[in-house]
Amino acid sequence: MQTEYFVLSGEDADREIYKKAGEVIKAGGLVAFPTETVYGLGGDALNARASGLIYSAKGRPSDNPLIVHIADFEALSFITQEIPDTAKKLSEVFWPGPLTMVFNKNDRVPYSTTGGLDTVAVRMPSNPMALEFIRAAGGYIAAPSANVSGRPSPTRAEHVMEDLDGRIDMVLDGGAVEIGVESTIIDLTGTVPCLLRPGYITVEMLRKVVGDVQVDPAISGSAENGLKPKAPGMKYKHYAPRGELYIIKGERENVRKVISDHIFSASEEGFKTGVIACDESRGIYEADEVRYIGSFEEEDSIARNLFAVLREFDRLGIERIYSEEFDTKRLGMAIMNRLLKAAGHKVVTAGKDE
Ligand code: TXA
Ligand code: MG
Repeated sequence: MQTEYFVLSGEDADREIYKKAGEVIKAGGLVAFPTETVYGLGGDALNARASGLIYSAKGRPSDNPLIVHIADFEALSFITQEIPDTAKKLSEVFWPGPLTMVFNKNDRVPYSTTGGLDTVAVRMPSNPMALEFIRAAGGYIAAPSANVSGRPSPTRAEHVMEDLDGRIDMVLDGGAVEIGVESTIIDLTGTVPCLLRPGYITVEMLRKVVGDVQVDPAISGSAENGLKPKAPGMKYKHYAPRGELYIIKGERENVRKVISDHIFSASEEGFKTGVIACDESRGIYEADEVRYIGSFEEEDSIARNLFAVLREFDRLGIERIYSEEFDTKRLGMAIMNRLLKAAGHKVVTAGKDE
């Protein structure tokens, strides 16, 4: 299949492109599009065949449900059984934006969209291009991240092409995304709201609006703890670069020393090495490639750059990757959740000096 590629300008001229994209979706095809978090791979959420195509294009296990993207609040009642008060409150504060809420679904949503579950995850993205596209496509877009299953999520249209060129009908290029990690997911079907995936909207922010929020115990630990996550997708291997990735944690000075030791021995063994570090570590490392992805004080930049660096290291053929720990104040939980998965939980603890 030939993948059509369109660059969006943000101007009126885009209208023709949205129209074409909408027609592709209504005909049961697939279109990748920008959101504020990561690029999504969209299909008609109410068409069981289209959801099926999404799974095969991504090579995604069919029990891993898709998020339904809507463009206005009224659309929510068309696909859910009831809308709890917590959802109304959260939507007032965080929609449109990087928050996904899980509801009991109704019959309009096919089981192939929800991976066989009786619940449906719904999100209203804030990216204006995403909203235009959803409207042009009929209002209900099932969209996982637009990467091949297991690879880092795409934060630019080029990343989508790397993974899905020839496998989908169309790519809408809206430039680099703003946030860079996927939406926060909160389940509202139980008595107490439960965080299923950490993201840009933190537990603290959610608690300010709805009071008590539990955190799925399967995601709260820093290492794999054997518990089964409530969001089916959270159990799969994810985000993995081709090189072996290790996270080094501990006091900053010790971390730097341990990473430098690792670079030295990996280079001795003939491996091409890469380091992922915060801006504060500039000038410390002598790996083949070093990427400073942001300051601890401006953690948004760390979130925005993380997936792109993993992909860049793949392109450069880096075989051993050492990353500092990014347990930053606000987004630390979301960033470390992605990084630990990308590393397959390979963590080295940098001990104290003797
Ligand atoms: O930011 C995002 O959410 C992006 C953009 C494209 O919107 N989408 C995204 O989708 O990250 P995906 O498919 O890569 O991740 C969806 C996650 C998976 O972990 C899946 O298991 C979970 O959401 N999920 C979907 N429906 C669910 C449901 N009904 N109950 C529990 N978890 C659900
Ligand atoms: Mg994904």
